[in-house]
Amino acid sequence: MLQGKKIVLGITGSIAAYKSCLIIRQLIKKGAEVQVVITPAGKEFITPITLSALTSKPVISEFFSQRDGTWHSHVDLGLWADAMLIAPATAATIGKMANGIADNMLITTYLSMKAPVFVAPAMDLDMYAHPSTQQNLKTLQSYGNHIIESGTGFLASKLEGKGRMEEPENIVASLESYFAGSCSMKGKKVLITAGPTYEKIDPVRFIGNYSSGKMGFALAEECARRGAQVELVCGPVSASMQAAHPGVHRIDVESAKEMHEACLSFFPSMDAAILCAAVADFAPETVAERKIKRTGDDMLIRLKPNPDIAASLGQIKEKHQTLVGFALETHDEEAHAQDKMKRKNFDFIVLNSLNDEGAGFRTDTNKISIISQAGKEDFPLKSKQEVAKDIVDRLNL
Ligand code: CTP
Repeated sequence: MLQGKKIVLGITGSIAAYKSCLIIRQLIKKGAEVQVVITPAGKEFITPITLSALTSKPVISEFFSQRDGTWHSHVDLGLWADAMLIAPATAATIGKMANGIADNMLITTYLSMKAPVFVAPAMDLDMYAHPSTQQNLKTLQSYGNHIIESGTGFLASKLEGKGRMEEPENIVASLESYFAGSCSMKGKKVLITAGPTYEKIDPVRFIGNYSSGKMGFALAEECARRGAQVELVCGPVSASMQAAHPGVHRIDVESAKEMHEACLSFFPSMDAAILCAAVADFAPETVAERKIKRTGDDMLIRLKPNPDIAASLGQIKEKHQTLVGFALETHDEEAHAQDKMKRKNFDFIVLNSLNDEGAGFRTDTNKISIISQAGKEDFPLKSKQEVAKDIVDRLNL
């Protein structure tokens, strides 16, 4: 899987820098080409001579190699690489990456990187547990970077043993499984709905909901990463929600009606659809042309049902197509989910419960069960990226 892959390895100032040698040795043994970019602090822990001997390439550290005007192009490195791995990544480097502080060659290379970026944090537990480090890791993950950690990752509630860099063989295995998965859905087309819908009341007001779109975006990224072509139909989500992968084509809509139309036009040519959006079930019967003024009396807005996108797609679904729905329930979860699956003709339904802490709206984590003809499968609390993998695995495309 790593044969012929070009890897930029970023090394920063941590005692775990010595383990970079083991990472390089394994990557090269598996046929990869490695270019080291090291920070000034990294060089205090390991020498460029060792690293260049292992990689058979000069190590890049400074912007300028010598005082004759030649300089290293971080842009070229960003285009050359199939992946960038930063291992070990200190709290300082993680903070600079999260905030775009480009004061060394490693960060400028990161900011120019066109390939996926993997980050293996290394620091002591106090630094790791500090809210600013945790926030920076979440920020990096929301930018589409892959955080490689021991155990269940930084989003887990238990912190013991955390902060220590993941073992070199597991870091290399993460890269391998990334490249292994990158073609399993080649040629497949997947429609994904994400986010809330807004139903207009007047020119300045709407009925909406708390959906952030995070789960849908994670699903889109995961399908694209596996080589699928993704049509991501999304309601109004925050500007920070970005699908980084070029395989994701995003269509922005506002209301359930617009989402319905977009989905109907895409679905016939799709292999699968995952309906993750929190679609408003009702919309105001009429939209006031001018801002509604306060009158002192009670105010009544009459609502009429919106189209049920899932049910429409369920009706026109063909044998070769897979349709997946979501259900967020507050009570009698399983029975409601089963009923929805049948009613909307889903192949399986992903159930998340509002009763579970860390699951559902506006969180970075989710705890799901997958319900299908075969029964119910429960999953532990995971990051939405990890949850997306579990769901996409079950598409069987
Ligand atoms: N859904 C949809 N179009 C709608 C409503 C829901 O496509 N107008 C999809 C959602 O994206 C989700 C699934 O249907 O995949 C279930 O959504 P939910 O709101 O739980 O279902 P409802 O049919 O609205 O059921 P409830 O009575 O619980 O509101």
